[in-house]
Amino acid sequence: MTTMNFIPNRFRRQSALVVGGAQGIGKAIAVRLAREGARVVIGDVDRPMMAETALEITREKGVVRTVRCDVRRRSQVERMVSKVIQWHGRIDILMYVAGVAKLVPFTKTNEKHWDWTLDINLKGGFLVARTVAPHMVRQRKGKMVFMASTNSWDAEAELAPYNASKAGLFLLAKTLARELGPSGINTNAVGPGLIRTRLTEPVIKNKKFISKYKDLIPLGRIGQPEDIAGPATFLASPDADYVNGILMFVDGGQLA
Ligand SMILES: NC(=O)c1ccc[n+]([C@@H]2O[C@H](COP(=O)([O-])OP(=O)(O)OC[C@H]3O[C@@H](n4cnc5c(N)ncnc54)[C@H](O)[C@@H]3O)[C@@H](O)[C@H]2O)c1
Repeated sequence: MTTMNFIPNRFRRQSALVVGGAQGIGKAIAVRLAREGARVVIGDVDRPMMAETALEITREKGVVRTVRCDVRRRSQVERMVSKVIQWHGRIDILMYVAGVAKLVPFTKTNEKHWDWTLDINLKGGFLVARTVAPHMVRQRKGKMVFMASTNSWDAEAELAPYNASKAGLFLLAKTLARELGPSGINTNAVGPGLIRTRLTEPVIKNKKFISKYKDLIPLGRIGQPEDIAGPATFLASPDADYVNGILMFVDGGQLA
């Protein structure tokens, strides 16, 4: 993993749940939170990648546990959240990073593809936030960060379900900012541009597509997962105590 800056003890003793933290952007966030002192729980469907990430964190003397959870299943989400409470007694930070995307022309997009994308990207966010919120309300403290996208704002062709799910996720975050703000909970979203992960591998491999993309990114490079970990953890930190209901684009200027 690329080296990244970190702020020692910024999240000391805080309990953080990173949903979709087995790899990619979620992994970079989990690693960073652990380096900065948080007790991290990773929830994900991918057991082998979760185990690998947990091993990396443990080797650095970070505190981490994993729980298998398919965010589409309410019973599994409830089990994951009750495990965090059982282990750490509270949840200070929720990072909702789980997500999927598949390029399909609209005229070939079927109901199965639509439901798969919306269930993981949007309904999963609802189920997790719905289960975590009562704990944060009880604590009268909490930070929720949802991994939205530049696609929450600008549509990309052949990604209808993805675009709709990410726009929905941002509005879910804004709703929670309004509704849970009075209980001392901050809710925000991060909108990554093009970040090099397993998800974007097929796009990045496509040379024609990528040369076009590079022209669209003023900073002239594709992002790394660590480029997202800093802004996402900022939103979970005390420095963001007065930040509520925003979508922070982290896209090298793509939407500038
Ligand atoms: N990579 C990018 O360019 C980019 C850009 C904008 C937004 N995003 C968003 O960032 C998030 C992370 O993406 P990434 O690029 O790191 O992808 P990734 O595929 O590397 O990671 C996604 C993680 O979500 C997990 N996941 C998938 N389905 C799940 C389910 N049903 N239950 C629980 N976990 C599940 C996967 O196992 C994986 O660990 C996604 O929400 C994605 O939409 C990524």
